[in-house]
Amino acid sequence: MVKVVICGAAGGIGQPLSLLLKQSEHISHLALFDVVNAPGVAADLSHINTRSTVTGHGKESMDEALQNAHTVVIPAGVPRKPGMTRDDLFKINAGIVRDLSEGIARNCPGAFVLVISNPVNSTVPIVCEVLKQHNVFDPRRVFGISTLDVVRSSRFVYELDNSIDPKSTRVTVIGGHSGVTIVPVLSHIPRQNFTKDQLDLLTHRIQYGGDEVVKAKDGAGSATLSMAYAGARFTSAILEATVAGRTGLIESTYINLHADAEGTAAFRAKTHLDYFAQDVEFGREGVSKILPLPELSAYEQTLLDAAVPELKINITKGTTFITEAS
Ligand code: NAI
Repeated sequence: MVKVVICGAAGGIGQPLSLLLKQSEHISHLALFDVVNAPGVAADLSHINTRSTVTGHGKESMDEALQNAHTVVIPAGVPRKPGMTRDDLFKINAGIVRDLSEGIARNCPGAFVLVISNPVNSTVPIVCEVLKQHNVFDPRRVFGISTLDVVRSSRFVYELDNSIDPKSTRVTVIGGHSGVTIVPVLSHIPRQNFTKDQLDLLTHRIQYGGDEVVKAKDGAGSATLSMAYAGARFTSAILEATVAGRTGLIESTYINLHADAEGTAAFRAKTHLDYFAQDVEFGREGVSKILPLPELSAYEQTLLDAAVPELKINITKGTTFITEAS
């Protein structure tokens, strides 16, 4: 059993995510860090009758919260309001993620770092650059959680074709985690035979599903409950593989491609991308293998071609935020 830290634990995602993780049998210590309300959320969760100890840590105790963590999940930062893109969040969230990464480098340099804070396409490079500066970067251990795109894909496909089981039908989603960078690979779902109109509809919904929630919440934030579900699923997979040693676990996730430098060399040479969301197999050390890119339909190849330039901009924005400041 291990220590897991949630940074931003009192927020819209942080609270339900902490609730779901309180039920994990792999966690002995759930440390909740937030600049507001963390002790209250911790006191509440600590009454739930599972084994893990829950502690709350405020603004001044980030180092204490992070000390010796096995896994750190980061949903800290501001969410979108109607009319905002994920990139609009960069100004505030980039600094928050940088400061948390500094804390991770100081207190738990070997931790698995799971990033939820948007824009994920840029915040993951920020984490990696900070860890590189402290000489503690291991590309197998840093993940952008794009699982909500996968969860949405299965659900939206089910709405068109209820002969599939939405829970067990896995859709690979490649690229990144915002708008056109989200590339669902729907051609590999068993039994599907979508028309072009259905494909257009599905793809648009998966790429912009977050906007449906932002609009419906009308200024009160973005996806929190579905994200907590997706975040808990991803975190549980990491714990199953790294703590319990379970093999064969695969999730799509946004990572640094050097996690499997050999396997991705050709792709990097062609696209000049260092970060990409792709199906990944987990092992004891995090990424054990990046699965080969699935064969894409012509439709999906066009989506990927549109995603690459946007991704490049997002990645450079995150990387230079750290490298040009030092
Ligand atoms: P929220 O505003 O409800 O919660 C964020 C929490 O972070 C707040 O409790 C706040 O006090 C805390 N916080 C702010 N600065 C902090 C710092 N320096 N250290 C620790 N905690 C800090 O926002 P919500 O809805 O929970 O969203 C959080 C982030 O997750 C946003 O960036 C949002 O865009 C992103 N998100 C990502 C998704 C994904 O698929 N990866 C899906 C939905 C949201």
